Amino acid sequence: MDTKIRLMITRVSIILLLCSITATVYAKPKYIGNEACINCHKKEGLSWSKRAHAKAFEALKPGKRKAAKKKVGMDPSKDYTINKDCIRCHTTGYRKPGGFKNIKKTPNMKGVGCEACHGAGSKYKVLHDEKPSFTETEAKVAGELYAASDPEVCDKCHMHKDQHFTEQVDKKYKYNREEAIKDRKSIHDKFEKKFRSMF
Ligand code: HEC
Ligand code: HEC
Ligand code: HEC
Ligand code: HEC
Repeated sequence: MDTKIRLMITRVSIILLLCSITATVYAKPKYIGNEACINCHKKEGLSWSKRAHAKAFEALKPGKRKAAKKKVGMDPSKDYTINKDCIRCHTTGYRKPGGFKNIKKTPNMKGVGCEACHGAGSKYKVLHDEKPSFTETEAKVAGELYAASDPEVCDKCHMHKDQHFTEQVDKKYKYNREEAIKDRKSIHDKFEKKFRSMF
């Protein structure tokens, strides 16, 4: 082969290699689903599965929460599980890599799952696995979110202008983020270092 052509091929392959390395390092974390987390965090998983967030997708089905829907002018007989104006807050990672697409393709991403509050998990899951003594800073670099110190995590759904069930509709919908994080009633119970204590 001509040396010039060979040199060119080498250059092009080096550039392609660099591109793919950059893409891997800077790629955004992907959503991986609750199961991956529950594998290690069994207690949180079980506790979460019984609470409101886990069941948030069910509320969109026809015939469910009739009275509440009527109160805000929604049609109780309508199937809202295919309405993108609803599923973006009643599912996990809607339209993001690995996140909810539709109930047939991504049934495991329905409801407000672990990653809706803790962040897309493909990278920090590896950190949790390989370095159980990780620091908060390391976890944040890997895409983990901390709702207790970052109001946006909860508020992006709860304080959004398209959220219908507000305090003005009924006092019972009064939203108090700090209290909810503290009492954990709607989230999952608090467990101290439960993962390590499994051994
Ligand atoms: C291979 C096991 C494993 C997997 C999988 C895993 N974790 Fe962890 N996780 C750990 C360990 C170990 C810790 C360190 C604290 C402890 O011992 O409980 C931890 C800590 C945490 C903490 C506390 C964070 C902190 O800074 O103290 C959260 C929140 C968490 N994990 C969420 C998740 C979520 C969400 C997923 C799924 C995307 C996940 N984990 C997947 C093992 C795992
Ligand atoms: C992806 C959107 C989303 C995120 C993020 C989110 N929520 Fe929610 N939350 C919902 C939806 C949807 C419901 C209604 C579930 C239902 O009634 O079926 C809900 C319900 C609740 C409720 C009422 C629960 C009950 O038992 O009636 C509280 C309190 C709450 N969330 C607090 C929080 C807090 C605190 C955070 C952050 C740590 C948070 N939420 C993060 C969407 C979200
Ligand atoms: C911006 C985010 C967001 C959007 C968009 C959204 N929801 Fe919700 N939805 C929430 C949150 C947050 C709650 C929990 C409110 C609470 O309990 O304080 C909720 C609660 C509900 C409930 C439970 C009310 C009850 O008292 O049981 C129903 C039903 C519901 N939403 C239906 C819908 C439908 C239908 C749509 C689309 C037309 C929709 N939502 C769009 C965030 C959203
Ligand atoms: C509605 C939001 C929300 C959802 C959904 C959620 N968490 Fe959490 N989780 C929290 C908050 C808030 C904390 C307190 C730390 C923080 O600020 O992030 C927490 C703390 C934790 C911790 C640290 C230990 C503890 O018990 O406090 C682990 C581990 C954890 N979550 C795992 C999970 C797993 C696994 C899932 C899914 C099965 C999940 N979480 C779903 C909001 C949520």
